[in-house]
Amino acid sequence: MGKAREINATQDKQTIETRVRALLERMSLEEKVGQLNQVQATGPNVVEDLAPAIRAGRVGSVINVVDPEAVKALQYIAINESEQGIPLLICRDVIHGYKTVAPLPIGQAASWNPDLVRDCARIAAEEASADGINWTFAPMIDIARDPRWGRIAESLGEDPYLTGVLGAAMVDGFQNSANGGADTLVACAKHFAGYGASEAGRDYNTTNIPENELRNVYLPPFHAALKAGVETFMTSFSDIDGIPATASDFLLDQVLRREWSFDGAVVSDWDAIHQLVIHGLCENDIEASYLAAQAGVEIDMISSAYERHLPELVEQGRLSMDRIDTLVGNVLRVKIRAGLMDRDVMALPEEPARMKGLNLVREAAQQSLVLLKNERATLPLDVETLKRVAVVGPLAHEPAEQLGTWVFDGDAERSVTPLMALESMLAGQVEVEHVRALETTRSKDRSGFEPAMHAAQAADAVLLFLGEEAILSGEAHCRADISLPGVQAELVRHLRAAGKPVIGVLMAGRPLALGSIIDQFDALIYAWHPGTMAGPAIVDVLFGRASPSGKLPVSFPVMSGQVPIYYAHKQTGRPASPETVIHIDDIPSGATQTSLGMTTFHLDAGYKPLFPFGFGLSYTHFDYSDLTLDKAQILMGERVRAEVTLQNSGDRSGTEIVQLYIRDRFGSVTRPVRELKGFQRVSLEPGESQRIAFELSTDDLAFYRRDGSFGAEVGDFDLWIGPSSTDGLHASFRINA
Ligand code: GLC
Repeated sequence: MGKAREINATQDKQTIETRVRALLERMSLEEKVGQLNQVQATGPNVVEDLAPAIRAGRVGSVINVVDPEAVKALQYIAINESEQGIPLLICRDVIHGYKTVAPLPIGQAASWNPDLVRDCARIAAEEASADGINWTFAPMIDIARDPRWGRIAESLGEDPYLTGVLGAAMVDGFQNSANGGADTLVACAKHFAGYGASEAGRDYNTTNIPENELRNVYLPPFHAALKAGVETFMTSFSDIDGIPATASDFLLDQVLRREWSFDGAVVSDWDAIHQLVIHGLCENDIEASYLAAQAGVEIDMISSAYERHLPELVEQGRLSMDRIDTLVGNVLRVKIRAGLMDRDVMALPEEPARMKGLNLVREAAQQSLVLLKNERATLPLDVETLKRVAVVGPLAHEPAEQLGTWVFDGDAERSVTPLMALESMLAGQVEVEHVRALETTRSKDRSGFEPAMHAAQAADAVLLFLGEEAILSGEAHCRADISLPGVQAELVRHLRAAGKPVIGVLMAGRPLALGSIIDQFDALIYAWHPGTMAGPAIVDVLFGRASPSGKLPVSFPVMSGQVPIYYAHKQTGRPASPETVIHIDDIPSGATQTSLGMTTFHLDAGYKPLFPFGFGLSYTHFDYSDLTLDKAQILMGERVRAEVTLQNSGDRSGTEIVQLYIRDRFGSVTRPVRELKGFQRVSLEPGESQRIAFELSTDDLAFYRRDGSFGAEVGDFDLWIGPSSTDGLHASFRINA
């Protein structure tokens, strides 16, 4: 039995540090470097291939092994056949589900439901740990404000507060369980930091984020994840202000260790240490290893640079053994705190009941749906009056596509597609005619248009399942033109001529630019990629068995050229307004350089998104009234309480996500025109009212100021409570010195 297990386990901090030191004292330099080395499992003979290195103590973690028997064999070798007997971290991208797939994270974010997001992470952890995985590379909490960037799909949207709340919930869901930890996953806050600002929305591209913007926008969700106890961080591929994150001592040492006191482990992204050479930051892997180790990267994901070069850097005296011990100690601490050293990691937990996962992801999918348009109450459809429905489009029956990106282990056989759900849930009540019309969303073959038209003409309503396949978003899958791909827009216009209600259900991994097509829909549901139970969730909402409650976690542009566009923008010195904006089609003859609106807008797109952050319709109607503040002025350290009455004035039950925004009117740096500072999900029956309260402290109003310090400032504030980032009741208050 390896020596690691001889140390009795208690988990208080002092004991953990004693255990870490005791292990380090026993370990050779090669064994220490081994803990920093992450290798990938490839090919059919994983155990045979990796056994010698693991036996020699040269491997600390293995990525992408998902066969439970192979995992058990690898752990057995690590624990019983190596000198130190330290268990392996077995890592995998379990991003939004394992075999049972929840909506994309951007879709989960549309639920604005931390408890649901936590539960989705929990079930993913239960399923993945049953296969021996004990570390996931999630949550991805990069702020994403450019929908051209394919990885917006795995983000939680554009807002630091919402991303922080939901990212923390994911950490909790992954890392904590009621039964002792065998069914937990070590979580990983990624990608640290600023990856979402990749220039032009092109993945892996340069980012240029001024420190004040970095600290006020991109870092807060990572701090929230740290406060939630996240055990690992992952460095971003991108360079930020000329320094790749994987070599950034500002990010990894100054911020993460010195300011935030993080004591877990940092893993590089895939081969990112070697990529420091490709970035042109250094000439070879030994220098890359030196820069990454000095900056504070503990684990080298599959580049083997650390394994090949850290020993010689120590022998050359360029890296001290103390530095190595600090890095290795952080890894050992994670393994101890995760319980790997104290439980039998070869005794894998039972897989959870499949229905438990299916029911949960169905609820998650329902709550992820955002009703963007519903003219003349086209929805919900009524099975009593609807006799025949035409189901058209390339995404009505795609079990794998509806899962979205980052679903290595998603079991598409578990998928229930919209077509399957319509046919089963409407059987005997409504006739369903399915016409695919397009082979894929990118297809330019119009030969399916006529069969689709015939189905539309024979039906009482047309359900159009359009959007993007999963391959069009996710890592490295960015689009410069984010309108509907192929000839989908033409198909919508063509079917409109049938004169029947046209209901769009769009699946995509990003906000699409719908400005030129939105008027063709009578109703529109945005479904993102809703996961395994897309079908039942969508049909539940289409037919009113569930009321849509989703709200946008990201702004929708009118057209591609408008991005980046987001609600928490700065005022600028020349803010646009309806009075100052002129449309390119309305420019009068003889207009001069200065006769058009001299403010910040596009002549052909204006200055507003098509749909704003926080927007989402319901089947009922909610009225806000009687906004009150308990104080008009507060001192530093005090709190202000805002209350509002919400009434369901419609005839259906529904859930409203009540949102609280503030604006710091004047600051030592320019401040956003609105910032989300709170939200509550409120379910009300028809006619029911409820008094909703929010409390704000001056700590909630703190930001990084001109001098780099963090805190609130004296001055006037606007406050809104309402249904989105552009509506709501207004009040104001002041912080006094
Ligand atoms: C990928 C991604 C990262 C992922 C890692 C391991 O390139 O950037 O998010 O966790 O490699 O698959």
